[in-house]
Amino acid sequence: MARILVAYFSASGVTAKVAEKLAKAIDADLYEIAPAVPYTKTDLNWMDKKSRSSVEMNDRSCRPTIATTVENMAQYDTVFVGFPIWWYREPSIIDTFMEAYDLTGKTVVPFATSGGSGLGDSYKNMQALAPGAKVYDGEKFSQTVSEKTLKEWADKYI
Ligand SMILES: Cc1cc2nc3c(=O)[nH]c(=O)nc-3n(C[C@H](O)[C@H](O)[C@H](O)COP(=O)(O)O)c2cc1C
Repeated sequence: MARILVAYFSASGVTAKVAEKLAKAIDADLYEIAPAVPYTKTDLNWMDKKSRSSVEMNDRSCRPTIATTVENMAQYDTVFVGFPIWWYREPSIIDTFMEAYDLTGKTVVPFATSGGSGLGDSYKNMQALAPGAKVYDGEKFSQTVSEKTLKEWADKYI
């Protein structure tokens, strides 16, 4: 029974690759934070102020529905949470995830991919949504990061 979970949201597959490598490197369970309504290319158009992603990210209270649930969150001590940076922070569906479970006493470690931006205030936002957890500031990785690099990083938290 794994004590570590790698949970991730990925709209176009980049974060998914990092999450898969991380889970393999540290022998963790892997869970996709899959939106009930998947994001289309049009939804992801950040140039369009009216696109779904723009509208969601403009509304701090937006909580897109997640399609599935983690079976037994209670078994995990450490939860790595991966996502693409959207507008310099965590996508709204990560906020849905943070509020969906009792994370009290757990270690939460964000990781992200992006076009260049860092994680910004992501960890602060996530910490506010799960006050009983210890949320670390986390790290950004490229799609080509090695399993070795991911393991060395993750070992600091497990
Ligand atoms: C709506 C939207 C907003 C984005 N905002 C940022 C941003 O603020 N900074 C940045 O560096 N990249 C930004 N990106 C690029 C993604 O973070 C990047 O392509 C990421 O690796 C995609 O991961 P995924 O394939 O797992 O969805 C944005 C992408 C989208 C779709």
